[in-house]
Amino acid sequence: MDTTDLVLAIVHHLLVFSLAGIIGAEFVLIRNDLPAATLKRLAGIDRHYGIIAALIIIVGIGRVFYGLKGWEFYIYNWVFWAKMAAFGIVGLLSIIPTVRFISWNRQAGSNPAFAVPAAELASVKTYVRAEAAVFLLIPVFAAAMARGYGY
Ligand code: HEM
Repeated sequence: MDTTDLVLAIVHHLLVFSLAGIIGAEFVLIRNDLPAATLKRLAGIDRHYGIIAALIIIVGIGRVFYGLKGWEFYIYNWVFWAKMAAFGIVGLLSIIPTVRFISWNRQAGSNPAFAVPAAELASVKTYVRAEAAVFLLIPVFAAAMARGYGY
């Protein structure tokens, strides 16, 4: 038994579920009207997205190097790299929504009549939906890689 591996696995799972919750919350919030209070909430939630994603990277790398299987198990495994690529794509897809949430929140703060432009909202919806879809691939790759698929 290895306490380090157990703690890393627990923290990894908690962070991963938090990120799923955040993507889910953004997914739902942008479907409805976006008054200033919602824009503020979206910007706040999105800030946590960045923090949690950064912690996932740190803990994930910790699992690679300090996990029970050893780093060689992962770095020669294409499913591991597919998982990393999916995570990277999710990160890239989140850039435009993050930029928009900050900008909308700032504009709503200085102009009470501010309304989110329809074209910007439509593009953010597309990005967040794509993000959620690609995110679903990550646990699929994770489960396969953990069981030795990918050599
Ligand atoms: C830099 C990012 C990441 C790294 C380096 C990483 C690395 C790892 C490692 C080394 C394991 C242990 C697998 C084993 O037991 O052999 C693991 C498991 C897992 N990871 Fe990640 N991970 C990352 C991001 C994510 C993300 C974003 C998700 C989101 C769904 C995720 C979901 C999982 C799941 C569900 C498992 C458990 C798989 C199982 O035991 O069936 N990981 N990860």
